Amino acid sequence: MSVAAPLLELRAVSKSYPGPVPVPVLREASLTVTRGESVAIIGPSGCGKSTVLNLLGTLDLPDSGSLTFEGRDLTKLSAKELAAFRNRQVGFIFQNHHLLPQCSVLENVLLPVLADAKRSSVEAEARARKLLDRVGLGARLDHLPGKLSGGERQRVAVVRALINQPALLLADEPTGALDRASATGIGQLLVELNREEGVTLIVVTHSPELAALMGRTVELRDGQFVPVAADVRRL
Ligand SMILES: Nc1ncnc2c1ncn2[C@@H]1O[C@H](COP(=O)(O)OP(=O)(O)O)[C@@H](O)[C@H]1O
Ligand SMILES: [Mg+2]
Repeated sequence: MSVAAPLLELRAVSKSYPGPVPVPVLREASLTVTRGESVAIIGPSGCGKSTVLNLLGTLDLPDSGSLTFEGRDLTKLSAKELAAFRNRQVGFIFQNHHLLPQCSVLENVLLPVLADAKRSSVEAEARARKLLDRVGLGARLDHLPGKLSGGERQRVAVVRALINQPALLLADEPTGALDRASATGIGQLLVELNREEGVTLIVVTHSPELAALMGRTVELRDGQFVPVAADVRRL
């Protein structure tokens, strides 16, 4: 496969939620993401941003259209194959950190490793320590999440998302619950890790500052992706 081959491709994907009045969210939407890219997805509340991340992370399936990862159609995989795909290839970060309060920082980061019996725990712990050190939490390994600041907790969530060396990092409003200084720090950290780890980064955000850190921005409008020009982004 050539270097420029897309990592991820949504092609003519439609998605609506059933109900008394069905809610159409995506209308034959297409998006191609190259390995190593960083992409911001913006758009007003309710336009379908979280729906898109759920589809890209295979937490939900499209009604129609295709979703390919390295050329493989993910909509054709079994539930078991999808679970393995998610665990190995995708890291998720949400607005709230979703750390387990009774587990230490190190234990929280190692949780995704437990789901994969083939992983060496010694190797994973070494990677966890290295990454926690990298994000400035090397001295907090045994702390409980309740003893950390909001920004620190989100750093732990970032490391947990990266522990299995995923190809794809999906972040849904990762700075939405943080003060401005912490938000800036998390945004910069995500971009640095995108480069250092070679992980493809897709960030959903309301924040123009965060979007501006990404390589490009697309707006979700009327169920389709519309490119946002760099000069517009700076306004
Ligand atoms: N599970 C669901 N069932 C029914 N409607 C949903 C569900 N999830 C989201 N929606 C609706 O789909 C639309 C898009 O939601 P969402 O993807 O969460 O938007 P965003 O993340 O951009 O705020 C909204 O109108 C929302 O109310
Ligand atoms: Mg959302």
